[in-house]
Amino acid sequence: MINDNTAFDNNELEGKEKIIVFDTTLRDGEQASGFHMFPEEKLEIAKQLAKLGVDIIEAGFAASSPGDFEAIKTIAEKVGTKDGPIICSLARTIDSDIEAAGKSLEPAYKKRIHLFIGTSDIHIQGKFGKDRNWVIEQAVNSIKKAKHYTNDIEFSCEDFGRSDSDYIVDIVCEVIKAGATTINLPDTVGWLLPNEAYEKVSYVIKKIREKGFNAIFSVHNHNDFGMASATTIEEIRAGARQIEVTINGIGERAGNTSLEEVIAILKTRKIAETNINTKLIGETSRLVSKYTGIEPSPNKSVVGKNAFAHEAGIHQSGIIKDSKTYEIMDPVDFGVESIITFGPRSGRRALKAKYESLGIKLNDDDFEKAAKTFFSIADKLKEIDDADIVRAINNGEEIPKHYKLISYHPVINEILKVTIELKIDNEIKTSYAEGNGQVDAAINAIKSLVQNNYELIDFKVVSKGKGSDAMGFTQLKLQKNGWKVIGRSENTDSVKSAIEAYIDACNRLKYLENFLNKSF
Ligand code: KIV
Ligand code: ZN
Repeated sequence: MINDNTAFDNNELEGKEKIIVFDTTLRDGEQASGFHMFPEEKLEIAKQLAKLGVDIIEAGFAASSPGDFEAIKTIAEKVGTKDGPIICSLARTIDSDIEAAGKSLEPAYKKRIHLFIGTSDIHIQGKFGKDRNWVIEQAVNSIKKAKHYTNDIEFSCEDFGRSDSDYIVDIVCEVIKAGATTINLPDTVGWLLPNEAYEKVSYVIKKIREKGFNAIFSVHNHNDFGMASATTIEEIRAGARQIEVTINGIGERAGNTSLEEVIAILKTRKIAETNINTKLIGETSRLVSKYTGIEPSPNKSVVGKNAFAHEAGIHQSGIIKDSKTYEIMDPVDFGVESIITFGPRSGRRALKAKYESLGIKLNDDDFEKAAKTFFSIADKLKEIDDADIVRAINNGEEIPKHYKLISYHPVINEILKVTIELKIDNEIKTSYAEGNGQVDAAINAIKSLVQNNYELIDFKVVSKGKGSDAMGFTQLKLQKNGWKVIGRSENTDSVKSAIEAYIDACNRLKYLENFLNKSF
């Protein structure tokens, strides 16, 4: 018999509202197209997930590649400590997968093997060409084998959403008999409507219990119809006590249920408690974006850049009076910021408040003139910055090119060094610097010439077009004293595009500095 510190016994949560959070960012999230992470990146994220308070980290699929095996092993060793979360590996119901999972998890204090097999007739016939009894046999045998490594066994009925409910009851009773401790009921393809999921999960749990069996029931949803969070909430109502989620909702196809959405609902609507420290959600989301290179869409609930941004005048005016008018949760609780942004639909009240916050006092006539100019500038731009707001006071004047790029040269044979020649007012100045790459080196060289303490807060290069001659479009943000500006440039030479965007932003901040340092 293995004594392996199994964390939850079957009845621990009976009657309590605490929900177990099983994070699969590093497995189901990472296996999705474009989201591959390297072992050292997975380790950093695992550390952050432990800080965030997830109960179980599904660290990967040990049998899938040597790299994933090593990543799980390192996470098991470094994060799966006595006080840390349970570390889990996925495995098919085949011996070699179970062996790989068991071995990769060896260093963890608390370990779980997560077995899965398709249970819908579509999977049984289409994928395996077998029958339902064969699936039960595979499942039971695999659990017996996995028990050699740990007593904490999760069993997933893959494609539960399209499986026959009475067959699920049969197979689940057999796997519990064989030793499964958590039963996961995944809607693998996001098929169920939330009310159907409620009924199906309630039915299955009730029948299994009527037959004298029990386990922790878990749910796992995919977002193919955009309903994963709603479905998960319904399934909690139906009796599920473990939820499987990913940060930023990353995962196969349209993604998995997103941790931040479900946790925000549970907390804000006071449905249930979890061990999540919600204040760390923002930084966890940013770390996952950093390592995957993919940010959540701006309108993504809780962590998207617009989730607490207010641009329309009516909304800005409400928010200024009382944030509850247009914010159903406090962004601070989730480690993110509420912001007022400006565009052609913004309101005069917010614009006036913005001028005041910049220390600019305008009489009614001057404000009306500035507002008129501002709205005509805003109509022409995708995104407005503080320099645009200020130049509206000056009839929308062009921002002077205080700094101008004359030339840049990578140093021959040494790719990490760049020489920059800038025209500053009417004088030509040259500097030379090193960096992590040409752009970093060039920016370091510009910094030494411009001699400022501008902080780079955002940097994006996207290619416009698909060929090797595509335009590199750079948009970056710099800030100083809370003033934020956007620098933009496009060029077929993407290094030049980044350098020009940086200089553009420097010119905009210089303009603000000159203007705002005058007294009003
Ligand atoms: O979506 C799914 O069914 C899965 C299982 C492996 C749980 O990811
Ligand atoms: Zn999945």
